[in-house]
Order: sequence, then structure tokens, then C-alpha cells
Amino acid sequence: MTDVTIADDGRTLRLGGDTRYNRFWLRDACPSLPTKESGLRRFSVATLPPDLTIAAATVDGDRCAVDWSDGHHSDFSIAALRDLADRAAGRRRDVTPCRTFTADHTPTRFDATALELGSETHHDLLDTVAREGFALVTGLADDDTETERLAACLGRIRETDFGRVFDIVTEPEAWTLSQSNLGQDAHSDDPFRYSPSGISILHCRRAAEGGGGRSIIVDGFRVAEDLRAEQPASFELLATVAIPYIRRRTESVDQGEDVDMVAYGPVLSVADGELMGVRFHERSTGVFDLPADIVDDYYLAFRAFAEKVRDPAYQFDHRLADGEAFVFDNQRVLHGRTGYESDTGGRRHIRLCTVDRDQVHSRLRRLKDVHGRPGVDLVMRSGAAAH
Ligand SMILES: [Fe+2]
Repeated sequence: MTDVTIADDGRTLRLGGDTRYNRFWLRDACPSLPTKESGLRRFSVATLPPDLTIAAATVDGDRCAVDWSDGHHSDFSIAALRDLADRAAGRRRDVTPCRTFTADHTPTRFDATALELGSETHHDLLDTVAREGFALVTGLADDDTETERLAACLGRIRETDFGRVFDIVTEPEAWTLSQSNLGQDAHSDDPFRYSPSGISILHCRRAAEGGGGRSIIVDGFRVAEDLRAEQPASFELLATVAIPYIRRRTESVDQGEDVDMVAYGPVLSVADGELMGVRFHERSTGVFDLPADIVDDYYLAFRAFAEKVRDPAYQFDHRLADGEAFVFDNQRVLHGRTGYESDTGGRRHIRLCTVDRDQVHSRLRRLKDVHGRPGVDLVMRSGAAAH
């Protein structure tokens, strides 16, 4: 029989040995409180009386009955209560594990023709993107509609000032670097948005003639973890200090709208010591407006991170062929490309779109239930924070 005692003048329930439950937490966990299936509650913890106490408690087998000072009665399953308490205390422990990668990575490949919605393959794609940061999809049909078909595996496309799907083609007057034939250092897209692009697709319709235009993929989490080990003070600055990212466009262009966007965020988002996201684009930063006592160290920390991103040891390199696509977590994995020969015929054509990360993670949780795969409830990494 499990021992039960009331301690701290009714503010704590002790249940067998050292297990202690706070009065508010215990009442919050009462199974009789009405909760909708959707998770939307019909009860608010803010309505509990501040002087609430546990008046009486008894144990009978696996059940623990509690009488409360406000007249409420609770009947708990002790096993269920312990499970809930363990999960509440250890929620960060269950954060989805990441497999970080460097230059010698072999990405997980998916055949586009096997990506049927709701299938095990579809599930595997989402799981791979969540754990490895990106996946390579091959065998997309020679058709523009394939970009949206692939995006439908992730969720609803986020429409931005670039539109639903942004066609990256070589333009004579480029208004983004992507429309030139120049190389680009690895970066995360759209750091100037409060919430940058989420899970993004780079779909190659036509690779550049004459070679070049190779994709460079860098695991921002791997770079950050190595920096944390080698230069902890620099890691700390990048994880705590927000810097400005800016995008202004006022000229009339054939794609996109005029914008004036400014977002402040740290390069690294960290919660309880765990990396949650990366926001990094060297060419989109404003001047760092930092306090005098940290400005020097901050510039050096930013430089140290950028140097690692440019280190070939971290750069997975792949030339997307016609009909191939990367699906990547833009708030973890950085992407860039090598330059390519002038492409005046406009042959090179890459299509880009993005789906919010929470939608993709929601699908992953649902598919886990549908396919009955084992594992804890998926507590996913929440991405790049804004300050
Ligand atoms: Fe980009």
C-alpha cells in the first residue's frame, strides 16, 4: 500500500517515499476537470483560490482520493499521476533527438513517386527532416506542379511577399542574390521575419548548364555545438544577444512586393541548454547595435560562427539534378551554393517554397499515432526565436 500524507499545511501531498505533489499542480491534474478532446480546456488554473489546500487524502490500491478545501473531490490513478509528473518534470529530456552532420553526410533519399500522403514513406520523410534537418527527394516529374505536390506532404504553403512559390531564375537585374549567378555563403532564409521560413523546399527544375550551382548544406546545430565545446563564451553571446536582420525593397520588381522588414533575434536559440533554432545570414544583418562592453566580443563570436560555416569540413555538397529537391529545416540547416557560369538562356530554374514548422511537426505527431510507432510524445525544437 502506498503511504500518503499531507504536508506544508495542506500545500503538498506526499505519496510513497519522496514523491511530492504541489497543491496547484495536483488540482490542475485532476481527471474530473472538463477538457475538450482538442486540448482546449473549459477550466482555468487562474480561477483556483490562492489559499487552496488539500484537506484529506486516502489511498486504496492504485487510487488516491483527495478532498479539497473548496469542496472539490479528486480521484486519481496513482500510476497515471506518476506518469504525468515524470513527463512534466522531464519534458526537455524528451526533446526530439537530433543526428547532426558534417561534410561526409549521406542524406536520406526519398523517391517522390512513393510519397503518398499518409504512407510510411511520407512519415519517414517528416521524421528525417525533424531529426536530420534535411532530406533529398528524387524522381520529381518534369512539371512545375510537383513543387506543390511535395509541399502538400508538409502542410499548407506559407504565402509571403515572394508569393506561394518563388521561381529562382537568373535575372539580368537581380534584386536578390539568388537571382544572380554568384555563389552564396550558407545562410538561413528570411531572418528578417519574426518567424523565418520553416520547412522549405528547393526544387530543381533545371540545373545550370556547364556545371556549377552546387548546393552547400551546413548543419547549424553541428556548428553551434562544436563552437559551444571550443569557445563557450562565444556560444553564450550568440545564444543570448539579439542582432538586427533587415530587408528593404522599394523598387518595382516583377516578383514580390515592396517590403521594409526588421527582426531582432539571436543567432542561436537555446532553451534549457538545448538548441532550438538558428537565425543566420551574414548579408542580411543591420549594424550590430550592442552595448559597449560586449560589442567587441560579439563581433568576434559572430565571426567565429561564420568561419565555421565556411569551413569545408562542415559543408555537405550536392549538385541538385533536374527533378531533385531538398526538404530542409530552415531554422536549423543553412544552405548556400557555388556560382555558375552566366546563364543568359535562363536555363537554371529552382523553385522555393516553405511551410511553417509547427504544421509539419503536427503532421509528424499525427502520423506517429496513425502508424502506431513507439516513442514519447514528440516535443519538437521550437525554432529560431525573435526578441
Ligand atoms: Fe537562401
